[in-house]
Amino acid sequence: MKVRKDFLPFSRPSIGKSEINKVTSCLKSGWITTGGLCREFEEKFCQLTGSQQAISLNSATAGMHITLSALNIGEGDEIITPSMTFASTINMIALRGATPVFVDIDYGTLNMNADLIEEKISRRTKAIIPVHFAGAPADMDKINELARKYKLTVIEDAAHAVGTYYKGIHAGGFGHPAIFSFHPIKNITTGEGGMITLNDAGLEKKLRLLRFHGIERDAWKRYGKGGNPSYDIAEPGYKYNMPDVLAALGLAQMERWQEFNLQRTRLAGIYSEELNGLSGIDLPEVPEYDHVHAWHLFVIKVLAVNRDQFMNRLSDYNIGYGLHFPATHTLKYVREKYSQTIGPLPQTERAAQKIISLPLFPDMREQEVNYVCKAIKEIIKNG
Ligand SMILES: Cc1ncc(COP(=O)(O)O)c(C=O)c1O
Repeated sequence: MKVRKDFLPFSRPSIGKSEINKVTSCLKSGWITTGGLCREFEEKFCQLTGSQQAISLNSATAGMHITLSALNIGEGDEIITPSMTFASTINMIALRGATPVFVDIDYGTLNMNADLIEEKISRRTKAIIPVHFAGAPADMDKINELARKYKLTVIEDAAHAVGTYYKGIHAGGFGHPAIFSFHPIKNITTGEGGMITLNDAGLEKKLRLLRFHGIERDAWKRYGKGGNPSYDIAEPGYKYNMPDVLAALGLAQMERWQEFNLQRTRLAGIYSEELNGLSGIDLPEVPEYDHVHAWHLFVIKVLAVNRDQFMNRLSDYNIGYGLHFPATHTLKYVREKYSQTIGPLPQTERAAQKIISLPLFPDMREQEVNYVCKAIKEIIKNG
């Protein structure tokens, strides 16, 4: 098979005329930091998710940080979450002085196995953080039921979940806080950025203060005509606000998320069809309950060949790849700091050494999926 000349990246944002026009018009407007466009972007998110409030941020990690802070989660508290997640969640839990308690996953979907949560709940448990892995929703009925029973908070990690629906409800539409990411590989991007959705005006107020130094009013109101530029701070906060120039990009992307996800779903379907039955590869499985998958990632497990060798061979074919994720319980500081609380995670261990994310992005062409599948077949056959 002939090797393509150009590198096929694992992901690439789709930036078109509408994005460029919207950003340019913001740049020309004289106001580029947090202001009216962020508000508009937040409103669009409320409409998408059905949440009452939305707070724009400069990353999802920032959103997790201030959500844990606003909920007073800290020293002595335990947070239930999968190890198969991005390290940022565990970092934020650790930086708050709390302890992550890991729940094993379902090998097929890589989502937290909701049937294994209850046995991990203790007197110290404060919150459950499920991840909608790769855009497949976590089992929210079971998770919400446990949260009600034990009076716990749920914080959805919705980083992969623009366009993810669980039984007709969009991620972030359950009332508790949910956190979305707009990193460039995500289903929509703002370059870097994040959004918290929730139904809680009191918590929203705290989060808005923590987002911006602890200052009561947004800068755009302080510096507007007739605004009062003085301020007071009751509690110190962070500097996690999203600038309008990025909200402009986000607003243009919001107009296109359905088109993006349709294409992602179509390409994922071609991967599944072409790789179906290939021995030595496990394909991603989808949840049994009613859902809409956002196909943020297409994660296969490579059994036939050593993964490092597989990655090297993909590089020979000029194909990019991702790794989502190195299991967080195996990271150096996590192993050392939480050795007492890390129990056996057999399905996480089983998947962690084998997973690899294949190229998937809205502007990827069908022939490129065919090319990746052909290359995989050759690698499996010849090593
Ligand atoms: C599951 C998950 N959670 C959280 C994050 C953090 O998002 P951000 O990069 O916007 O802080 C990511 C981003 O890669 C992610 O994949």
